Amino acid sequence: MLNLPKNAVVTIDGLAASGKSSVAKNVARLLSVPYVSSGLLYRLVTLAALEDGIKTTDERSLLDTLDAHELRLEPRNDGNRVYLDDRDVTDECASSRVDNEVSRVAQHGLVRSWVNAQVRRLAPPFVAEGRDMGTAVFPHARAKIFLTASSKVRAERRVSERNETFENVHLAIEERDGLDADNSEPAADALQLHTDGLNLDQTVKRVLELIKQQVK
Ligand code: DC
Repeated sequence: MLNLPKNAVVTIDGLAASGKSSVAKNVARLLSVPYVSSGLLYRLVTLAALEDGIKTTDERSLLDTLDAHELRLEPRNDGNRVYLDDRDVTDECASSRVDNEVSRVAQHGLVRSWVNAQVRRLAPPFVAEGRDMGTAVFPHARAKIFLTASSKVRAERRVSERNETFENVHLAIEERDGLDADNSEPAADALQLHTDGLNLDQTVKRVLELIKQQVK
């Protein structure tokens, strides 16, 4: 089994519903390190804004929301939890209401800086999962993976987690791909894995092999 060096960060980036969270969680468990979901932090900011009745296009008001509340990510090994003023809101962050607004919130540079600062504050080793972990946030990560899958396969995977039709989930994913595109470029030194046709176990196994290739 691979032993990650003490200060190592591994990044797993990919598109909406590409399976990043499940893959990162399992890979981190097998490496005996925590995993960190940056997307969950964007979701937490979005939920706080929705609860405050703020327009997700208004950067100034989003920053006021960040100042007015305590927002916290707990990177537990069995799943990341997020807290809004000490209330566990993890399940609410996985709702369609948050799905539909989060890409807009993630467009704001100052929100991105806030999320990046939260993630960089954590002590390595860990597996960081998101869109730009291997580019903007940890350009010197020890290993970088970028997961892709067709929008149809991603919609099929997500529809089981949402109370929505396949068509609605598929449309929402394609819309988010468009909005997220600028912040979702793979790092030049990331190893890419296309996961259509691979189940979770197969993907995790392959990702571990790719990490081993990079951590020598
Ligand atoms: O991975 P996810 O679906 O939980 O991410 C939620 C949203 O947050 C996604 O639409 C794009 C944004 N995001 C981002 O812009 N950068 C990241 N590092 C992680 C997520």
